[in-house]
Amino acid sequence: MRFWVAKHIVFDVLNTSLKGNLFFYLRMLKLLKLQKFLPYKTYEDNYFYQGYEVFGIRGAKPTIFRLNQYSDLELPPKSKILDIGSNVGFLDLHLSSLGFNVTGIEINPVLVTAANCFKAKIGANTNFICSDFLEYNFKDRFEVVLSLSNHQTTDGNLKIDFNAYITKVHSLLETNGIFVFESHNIYGPGKGLPGDDGDILEKITLLTRYFRIYKFKMVKSYLEHNVNDVNKLLVIMYKIDFQSPNMQLVHLNNFYSNNFDYSYIKK
Ligand SMILES: C[S@@+](CC[C@H](N)C(=O)[O-])C[C@H]1O[C@@H](n2cnc3c(N)ncnc32)[C@H](O)[C@@H]1O
Repeated sequence: MRFWVAKHIVFDVLNTSLKGNLFFYLRMLKLLKLQKFLPYKTYEDNYFYQGYEVFGIRGAKPTIFRLNQYSDLELPPKSKILDIGSNVGFLDLHLSSLGFNVTGIEINPVLVTAANCFKAKIGANTNFICSDFLEYNFKDRFEVVLSLSNHQTTDGNLKIDFNAYITKVHSLLETNGIFVFESHNIYGPGKGLPGDDGDILEKITLLTRYFRIYKFKMVKSYLEHNVNDVNKLLVIMYKIDFQSPNMQLVHLNNFYSNNFDYSYIKK
């Protein structure tokens, strides 16, 4: 077991005890261990990848700490949100508590079962779908799609390339819908390894064919920087109709000139 996981378990046992959630937390921990029997890529030694301060669980990515860094997202109140790769659903439960209409889709049934247990515990009305994002036939369209730290197509679960992925995202968004994309490791070699978003510029080039970039910034890593985690690039975009490759260049030029500090990103 990794050192930080062991450390977090100690803190989480303490915190969940203080909040009166210890036995529930231990049951969920046992549930997450079942992931080792599944064929999917799992995270953090089957410990909590997402954390939620409300339950006293820190995980690798504590939800409120994380959302505080996204304060400039400015999502339209009560908007209909789709979260791709919703994990244990903490982000979605929190967004639901803020009045958003949230659907999470997650391929791993153990994570979806855990999400539904947490949902029942707090009485939220979040909708969790257990399916492969690629295979699922959505009947609804969404005002916002979140693709956060999905290590896009490189986490071993998605069978398509980035272009096909964002084409599907584009088709699921309402006119002028918002796409929120959080990278994983943009400092990586860009060779398609797990968590490797070193090819971020190629990804941004593709994104500009379908979306107009509105805001972008680096968000702080959730664990120790360069030890267990790295800072992430967060990009907020609006859906546009497909653009010709010439238009891409115009968008990319805007991207660089609009206070996008490339040298910082490469550090
Ligand atoms: C690295 S985690 C990121 C979780 C979450 N988006 C976040 O940022 O906290 C990637 C998640 O996507 C899920 N996933 C991977 N491939 C998927 C697919 N094809 N369809 C739905 N979920 C998928 C994984 O099981 C995992 O929970």
